[in-house]
Amino acid sequence: MISEKMTAALNKQINAEMYAGYLYLAISSYCSYTGLKGASKWFFVQTQEESTHALRIYNYVNRLGEHAKLASIKEPPTDFDSLQAMFEAALQHEQKVTGMINDLVNLAIEEKDHATEIFLQWFVNEQVEEEESVNDVLAQLKLAGEDKSGLFMIDKELGARVFNMPADFVETI
Ligand code: FEO
Repeated sequence: MISEKMTAALNKQINAEMYAGYLYLAISSYCSYTGLKGASKWFFVQTQEESTHALRIYNYVNRLGEHAKLASIKEPPTDFDSLQAMFEAALQHEQKVTGMINDLVNLAIEEKDHATEIFLQWFVNEQVEEEESVNDVLAQLKLAGEDKSGLFMIDKELGARVFNMPADFVETI
């Protein structure tokens, strides 16, 4: 069992993960519209990943007999100044999510909720990867600067990303 407070906090996290997916879908759409097809694919895959993050928590809450409640998702921005600005927006959101995950872990520890603490470890590790991958792209974009051929190459590389359903995901359903 999990407490009402923990359930409410996890429900809030479902919403943050859904918003992340919505933000990345908005970025994907803007990339596609502006001809950045590779980056559009990268962010589309990111949206798919965020959906699995939200569903992991949704499944966890429901499996414990609690109520995973869905709230309205904030409208994301629709236009961006540059590809760098899009990845900066992504990094900013990922850092916020990392902080929220840390707060959830702290709450689980405070409540001696070992099951939820263990469940959240996956997210702790995932956030390291998420921030790292966005930071890696940002570093490349900064190196390329105004160089259009550099941007073209980066966009091409970003387009190689594919979505892989995490092997352990099905088990959570
Ligand atoms: Fe699910 Fe990218 O945080």
